[in-house]
Amino acid sequence: MLSNSLIELDRAHFIHPVSSYRSHEATGVRVLKSAKGATLTDISGRQLLDGFAGLWCVNAGYGQDSIIEAATRQLRELPYATGYFGLGSEPAIRLAARLAELAPGDLNHVYFTLGGSDAVDSTIRFIRYYYHAKGTPQKDQFISVESGYHGSSTAGAGLTALPAFHAGFGVPYSWQHKIPSHYAYRNPAGSNPQAIIAASVAALRTKIAELGADRVAAFYVEPIQGSGGVLVPPPSWLKAMHAVCKEHDILFVADEVITGFGRVGPLFACEEDDVVPDLMTTAKGLTSGYVPMGAVLMSDRVYNTIADGAGKAAVGHGYTYSAHPVSAAVGLACLDLYENGLLENGRKAGRRLMEGLRALADHPLVGDVRGRGMLAAIELVTDKERKTPLPAEADAARRIFDRAWDNGLVIRAFAQGVLGYAPPLCCTADDIDGIIERTRTTLDQTLEDRDVRAAMKG
Ligand SMILES: Cc1ncc(COP(=O)(O)O)c(C=O)c1O
Repeated sequence: MLSNSLIELDRAHFIHPVSSYRSHEATGVRVLKSAKGATLTDISGRQLLDGFAGLWCVNAGYGQDSIIEAATRQLRELPYATGYFGLGSEPAIRLAARLAELAPGDLNHVYFTLGGSDAVDSTIRFIRYYYHAKGTPQKDQFISVESGYHGSSTAGAGLTALPAFHAGFGVPYSWQHKIPSHYAYRNPAGSNPQAIIAASVAALRTKIAELGADRVAAFYVEPIQGSGGVLVPPPSWLKAMHAVCKEHDILFVADEVITGFGRVGPLFACEEDDVVPDLMTTAKGLTSGYVPMGAVLMSDRVYNTIADGAGKAAVGHGYTYSAHPVSAAVGLACLDLYENGLLENGRKAGRRLMEGLRALADHPLVGDVRGRGMLAAIELVTDKERKTPLPAEADAARRIFDRAWDNGLVIRAFAQGVLGYAPPLCCTADDIDGIIERTRTTLDQTLEDRDVRAAMKG
């Protein structure tokens, strides 16, 4: 009864992010009610393993008392403090200092946002300002990678390279350019890691030459492409791209919104490739989704150029909720958890997850298994030799998500027939085994899908 009235209210009033409004009205909402550890409970009492940590953000898992207490304490003591007018709050200052200490190299300056999209958007503004301050405002062209996701702000959506974020929105802008993805499973250069790196380096060099190095402001990259289907570059790919940018005096922006905070093993994925970006965007695991927060980490060089360029003038970029004290208190509590065993548990659980997913490789539908740490995907095909994607009629995003849900599992089901995994780092061995077993059942059911069967026969 309660559930029915919620469904009606939702249908009438709640606009869901990145959804077909009309399809959603027809299907109706699924209401989540509570959660603990890696287990969600919906409003009907059904329990599900959360193989996707909400939206790859609840890295700490649900119901962590230390986070809840930190937020409650801060809500009582000081629920809001602005950073404007030279004001600040203790948790925001401490979190900035702690991030600077933990981040690679000289990423010593932190601008807080509310999430990932406005972190990316902030970098665009900071970078434009930086080049104005340097006296080279003509460096105003931005490059990112096909299949990349950098949020859905007005400007950031044009760095994103996924069709749904462009169609009907008038982006990308003429100053936003792309190079092909490393996508190892379907790379025209083949699957050899060195060949993939060489192809990406060549593509970046060609794009820079085409635009003119004196026009290129920045290159944006996710250490692992998330929303494009969990595309994992070969080791040292990031380092090679970073070297090209350095050579041409182009700012290198690592978008670690998904990969940060232990998602792939270390606190930041850049560390694995020994790369120190000029700017880094983070969000999600920063507060594990308990409250909204993102952060732009800025190198000494970028910060000092902006600071000196502005002199006594205000750098006109700010949000009311930047450096929100409750979010900052939550961020500090999350860092405590990461440093006191959660990253370690995530690495252990990640090894089990990858082993379990790799054991599914001989399933007739599994074409590729990829991932690092607690970020993984399997890509389904109807013909392994030809790597034929599932047919559009099989409606992979909807049907596979629904089957997994009915099996008590939440995963990301991408339209192209990719199943994405990003479980909380707190997962136990049983949680991981449950995710694998429920995936196996989901795959077996998908093999019985009439449209999949038709494609396999054809
Ligand atoms: C790499 C990356 N950048 C930016 C964003 C945007 O973050 P948000 O949804 O918090 O605005 C996302 C979100 O998934 C992301 O994956």
